[in-house]
Amino acid sequence: MIQKNQNNLAISQEFWKKEGKRIDWFTEYTKVNESNFSQGHIEWFSDGILNASYNCIDRHILQGNGNRTALIWQSNDPAVSKKISYQELLDQVCAFSNALKEINIQKGDRVCIYMQMIPEAIVAMLACARIGAIHSVVFGAFSSTALENRINDSQCKALITQDFGIRGLKLDIPMKDNADKILDNCPSIEKVIVVNRSNNSINMQQGRDIFWHDFVMNQPRTCEPEKMNAEDPLFILYTSGSTGKPKGVLHTTGGYLVYTSYTHQKVFDYQQGDIYWCTADIGWITGHSYIVYGPLSNGATQVIFEGVPNYPDFGRFWQIIEQHQVNIFYTAPTALRALMKEGNSWPQRYNLDSLKVLGTVGEPIKSPEWRWYYEIIGQSNCPIVDTWWQTETGGILISPIPHQTELKPGSATHPLPGIFPEILDENQKKIEEANKTGFLVITESWPGQMRTVYGDHQRFIDTYFSQAPGNYFTGDGAYVDEDGYYWITGRVDDVLNVSGHRIGTAEVEGAIGAANGVAEAAVIGYNHEITGEGIYAFVTLMTGIDPSEAIKNDILASVAKIIGPHAKPSVIQFVSGLPKTRSGKIMRRILKKIAQNESDLGDISTLADPSVIDSLLKK
Ligand code: PRX
Repeated sequence: MIQKNQNNLAISQEFWKKEGKRIDWFTEYTKVNESNFSQGHIEWFSDGILNASYNCIDRHILQGNGNRTALIWQSNDPAVSKKISYQELLDQVCAFSNALKEINIQKGDRVCIYMQMIPEAIVAMLACARIGAIHSVVFGAFSSTALENRINDSQCKALITQDFGIRGLKLDIPMKDNADKILDNCPSIEKVIVVNRSNNSINMQQGRDIFWHDFVMNQPRTCEPEKMNAEDPLFILYTSGSTGKPKGVLHTTGGYLVYTSYTHQKVFDYQQGDIYWCTADIGWITGHSYIVYGPLSNGATQVIFEGVPNYPDFGRFWQIIEQHQVNIFYTAPTALRALMKEGNSWPQRYNLDSLKVLGTVGEPIKSPEWRWYYEIIGQSNCPIVDTWWQTETGGILISPIPHQTELKPGSATHPLPGIFPEILDENQKKIEEANKTGFLVITESWPGQMRTVYGDHQRFIDTYFSQAPGNYFTGDGAYVDEDGYYWITGRVDDVLNVSGHRIGTAEVEGAIGAANGVAEAAVIGYNHEITGEGIYAFVTLMTGIDPSEAIKNDILASVAKIIGPHAKPSVIQFVSGLPKTRSGKIMRRILKKIAQNESDLGDISTLADPSVIDSLLKK
């Protein structure tokens, strides 16, 4: 029998009932939390009616803030930036919404967005939200095949993309061309809308493809926001799990918006007029929650950046902070490690006095980069919020609150008010002891929680509610220290975290297996100085095929083609066999030790064929 803490449930109910009012509802909710973890059922504010785009734009204009800058777009080219006010954002979102309606996109239809960091990407997301269409943003570096799988899984009716992507020295990333390669295999796509970002020519298929500027031309600048139920879907975002098939994480409208608005304000201590900059890409959940829905629902002014941290040089981030007088800066530890390596002279060239709060997300931050961030970037004046959360959680769950929480470098500190985590042992018993690592679970629902895996509710139940019945199972390990601080120790499943990008080992193994000559592959993560985790692949070849550089290149090409370049292994080791148990399960624990050059391989007595160890040790 699951013993729930009724007190926590009551606190949560009261807390969110009040907090839900921070956004505007066309019809106020009377119901708050009707979730039930045992049934895999999540439901919040279920009789409330609202619109996310209205909350992110119209309501600020109605309060007299139409002239306030919503977006400061900094292009890859340091000389080019552009400001977009809330009124201009509304005009563009309405025009695009009307155009979507004209091509028969209706409430509930799925629309795929495959773009880089340009304002049109945000306009497209908000236009979908305005008319009740469900957006599915696919990270711009994903390959054609990854795009195809995601479009087909959710049967998207339209694709919004751009001719070319521009990032750093790459001025011609062929986005439209990538899409063209697979659109014949995506029968659900009726129209393709293409932003003209470069002047290079592309193929446009008559009747199917339309340039963005033609699409919105002559469209009225007003569009009534659709009345959405709180539980109507807002978006799908695919993320990696422990099987080969990415999960379509579904978030709904009311709870998600309340949660992202609440956490953005609370965790970053956002005050009106602050200039906020989150360096994430809209292709990931951080971009959805802390570039689009959180900041815009709070009427924030924010920088969005098309480029990369090392172009034209390693001072780019710091130069942008000075140029746009950024007050709140949110980035990933991997970027900090890469920039720290280049020395202090880069940040010291710029005046960073505008900074008030610094944030990190996506992976554990270790002491050296924490100290560097705190002392060199924040000049020992800015609290660092180390924010722990996941695609599934919709928003930040564990994080310091600026100027309230005493910081400990590397700890995400404490759960936010309204969030109830616990650490469980393998028998699902609560660990009360300090510094003892176990599984991190959340005992009560929160409004930003995902609702289902698109098209596969059973997978939702199996993944998140079966390991520790009655709780949400995060898939992360953690411990609480003697002062009650939470320390996240990393994933406990077969999910890798490379530069803050979440990648499933099974996905990479599948892509390696598709290369010519490969018999089998096993992939593990190993400690990597810059990317946090690196991908190490052990590969066996077909009989008669010898290891060669050519095969290595084929493997890399196959991973780039099936997933994307960010998932390429950094080490490939050819071996004669993989360490397996008698039932055929790969013993990853042994591979991990070999990759990390550990000499004690532990218990190898359960190996079906102990002789494979010799070939594994011959690096
Ligand atoms: O392992 C945790 C790690 O990133 C995972 C979630 O990845 P994703 O869904 O891609 O979302 C990333 C952006 C929220 C988590 O299960 N993670 C995230 N934030 C932290 C973290 N690990 C340690 N510290 C963090 N602050």
